[in-house]
Amino acid sequence: MFKKDFKNQTVLVTGSSRGIGLAVAHAFDDLGAQLILHGRSAIPADVLDSFHQKPMTVEFDVANTEETEAQIKDLYKRPDFPGIDILVNNAGITKDQIAIGMSPADFAAVINTNLTGAFNVTQPIFKKMVRQKHGDIINMSSVVGLMGNIGQVNYAAAKAGLIGMTKTLAKEGARRNIRVNAIAPGMIVSDMTDALSEDAKANVLGNVPLARFGLAEEVAETAVFLASNEYITGQTIVVDGGLYI
Ligand SMILES: NC(=O)c1ccc[n+]([C@@H]2O[C@H](COP(=O)([O-])OP(=O)(O)OC[C@H]3O[C@@H](n4cnc5c(N)ncnc54)[C@H](O)[C@@H]3O)[C@@H](O)[C@H]2O)c1
Repeated sequence: MFKKDFKNQTVLVTGSSRGIGLAVAHAFDDLGAQLILHGRSAIPADVLDSFHQKPMTVEFDVANTEETEAQIKDLYKRPDFPGIDILVNNAGITKDQIAIGMSPADFAAVINTNLTGAFNVTQPIFKKMVRQKHGDIINMSSVVGLMGNIGQVNYAAAKAGLIGMTKTLAKEGARRNIRVNAIAPGMIVSDMTDALSEDAKANVLGNVPLARFGLAEEVAETAVFLASNEYITGQTIVVDGGLYI
């Protein structure tokens, strides 16, 4: 289906120990790519064993600028390191509360992880992509960044910020053969959405024309599509069953 040969491509997916990140990593692995899995702590052995090609791993808290920079620097120094062709900024958290009740700490934590965290990872890798004269970056935004959502002022701001970052990096990267796109998933079955109350789930489902939650694999297919099509940059693809129509 895809013209692009992923067999000689290396893909770093942040937050790939589970959920959407893991599904994205598996989708590229299925196409023969070399994966670099990332988590805050060590990736469990059963996750590593689920890949065809043995993945490399790297651990750091994306919200910690110094730690992120140091770990990425070390990664590039590893003797077996092939370079990064595709970066998927997927790591993210929620700390929901209506705006008038939200603590400054919860606002900052979500911005620091979901927005600044993506920048922390991207900046050193973008520099390398400029030097290697190619690269592909995919940012995991959210439909909430486009439409807002009660109780998610921090998350919506971070995810909308990611879309602005995507467009800017797309413009800065284009002449250097670096493409930057975003995916805006709606409600996807995952640990993040499992944590919602049954009422909250039913409420969202009532607004999804396709009347079901999405699958992590459906988001992963979109990431592969964006990495395959070399004439798309600066775009945000919504994968939400029609929620945002
Ligand atoms: N699940 C959904 O419905 C949905 C919808 C829209 C967007 N998203 C976005 O997709 C991405 C993945 O979501 P998910 O549902 O798979 O969530 P998840 O909670 O299952 O996975 C998130 C991953 O990010 C990692 N992570 C979180 N904070 C980190 C940090 N500070 N440093 C390093 N790693 C960190 C976690 O360890 C985990 O591996 C997130 O960015 C999320 O905002 C999810």
